[in-house]
Amino acid sequence: MKIGSLHLKHKLLLAPMAGITDLACRLIMRPFGIGLAFSEMVSANGLVLGGEATKDLLISVPEDRPLGIQLFGENPEILAEACRRIEEHCDVIDINMGCPVKKVVRSGAGSALLKNPARAAGIVAAMRKATSRPLTVKIRAGWDQACINFLEIAHIAEQEGADAVTLHPRTRSQGFSGCADWTLIATLKQQIKIPVIGSGDVFTPRDALRMLEETGCDAVMLGRGCYGNPWLAGQILDLLGGKVPHAPTTQERCEIALLHMDTFLRHNSERKTVLDMRKHLCWYARGLSGAAQFRAAVNKVEQLEELRSVVKQFFRNAEPPAEVS
Ligand SMILES: Cc1cc2nc3c(=O)[nH]c(=O)nc-3n(C[C@H](O)[C@H](O)[C@H](O)COP(=O)(O)O)c2cc1C
Repeated sequence: MKIGSLHLKHKLLLAPMAGITDLACRLIMRPFGIGLAFSEMVSANGLVLGGEATKDLLISVPEDRPLGIQLFGENPEILAEACRRIEEHCDVIDINMGCPVKKVVRSGAGSALLKNPARAAGIVAAMRKATSRPLTVKIRAGWDQACINFLEIAHIAEQEGADAVTLHPRTRSQGFSGCADWTLIATLKQQIKIPVIGSGDVFTPRDALRMLEETGCDAVMLGRGCYGNPWLAGQILDLLGGKVPHAPTTQERCEIALLHMDTFLRHNSERKTVLDMRKHLCWYARGLSGAAQFRAAVNKVEQLEELRSVVKQFFRNAEPPAEVS
């Protein structure tokens, strides 16, 4: 799998997910078979106008490669300037044309660009001119059921020099409801020459194989399926290689959950670690006996050392996980 000049070792990508795919999350996921991991979306305006919160989103380390940085914005010149500032720090630059969040859409960015093809074209052209890094565009199916225009936007992206298109085949108005319509990914794959990355509803290794088979997409982007489950990428590779997917033991879950916490702590305060890790720890416990009590306990803990011992105690006593589907 190649995106522009970048060769990927695996055709499994970690999705950009705001509030989730920070540095620690990416570092935890990578060794299991992620070929390219994306940052959370980063505001081009914030980056160029110098917000500290924006800079925090760009924190990375040499092991965090290949890295895609996703930008959002509505102004071609500012997005181009953002490309120039980040290109040394990443391997791929992505432009967000799918975010459904009101504040983002109101500013004309994210999925609002699906309703403004001329602006979308201007943005891809300006970013293409600004950087020689592989450039990708992430889109949804369209704004709503009455405006399904992913093909138009993907053609524009290709014409203006993008190296790949990622499609999450839901409309903006759908949010995350219903099912991702993978037939749209198959249609897109037949219509453009640059690689197509499929995104949406891959929760099991079989889902990933089905997406590859049914759509012909070049790569699969993993999103919510990785919540508390970095093993998913490895399980998909197992299945692709004709092996039985590895099901993590409770001890492995515990080790990775603690490693995730320690990795997060390396770049954050104890307080932020406790607060941010709560959701991840609850996800690591999903499907195990006693997970509900564990969730309640984790959400009350205020101190890092206490959190560590709650985690250790839970996984020591938890029943083995269910089979991988
Ligand atoms: C919490 C959360 C945050 C997300 N943030 C972003 C984002 O910053 N940029 C983006 O392009 N997509 C974002 N997405 C969409 C995902 O990248 C992905 O396309 C979508 O979740 C569908 O894949 P999934 O069903 O495998 O989760 C986000 C999704 C979730 C659940």
